[in-house]
Amino acid sequence: MRVTKAIIPAAGLGTRVLPATKAMPKEMLPIVDKPAIQYIVEEAVAAGIQDILIITGRNKDIIEDHFDRAPELETALGRPGKEKALEECLGIAGMANIFFVRQKQTLGLGHAVLMAKPFTGDEPFVVMYGDDVIMGEDPVAGQLIRAYEAYGRAAVGIKEVPKADLQKYCSMKAEPIQGNHYFIDDMIEKPAPGQEFSNFSILGRCLLTPEIYT
Ligand code: UTP
Repeated sequence: MRVTKAIIPAAGLGTRVLPATKAMPKEMLPIVDKPAIQYIVEEAVAAGIQDILIITGRNKDIIEDHFDRAPELETALGRPGKEKALEECLGIAGMANIFFVRQKQTLGLGHAVLMAKPFTGDEPFVVMYGDDVIMGEDPVAGQLIRAYEAYGRAAVGIKEVPKADLQKYCSMKAEPIQGNHYFIDDMIEKPAPGQEFSNFSILGRCLLTPEIYT
């Protein structure tokens, strides 16, 4: 089945980046000249995805505003010399079909994904953490879709991290298949020294199949 949907959980409280995130969603913090979540939507679009569900919560309305039309701004940018800025603003609003749902309580990432069930139905979908911007020539969302097409299974982006850092993240049990593909059938969250499976930890990208909900 072709992968046409992505979800972006963006309802977290961002407690690790306070006070920047007291009133500003972490996903809207700028990187150079764009909010983080715009890079993520662009990555999804570059992977051929047109339907994107952003999972938000209280105090996250500006995420919706960012991907909406802005008539007053557009009128102001209608003046000569502002063509590029106008084009950019219109481009953001027309980039993809973006849907929103609220996670009413921040009960964790798994709970946020559950909010997407009516949107994803019985289709596979990409999960892209709203605060994890990953730049690269071959965007991770596209790599995951190709892995799903090749193996017909759920897939997750992994990265090698120094052993000492694994305790902050997780460790994947990863057996090489070919190239940069590995078979993973176990993982450990925040392993104590000696409990690690490998130096591979997880990225904020995975491709899930509908079985995740069962
Ligand atoms: P994180 O654990 O990195 O985000 O979740 P957080 O909860 O904001 O982190 P702290 O408070 O700094 O520790 C990864 C992604 O999942 C979303 C977050 O918005 C982030 O984009 N998330 C997390 C939800 O949508 N809902 C949740 O209940 C938790």
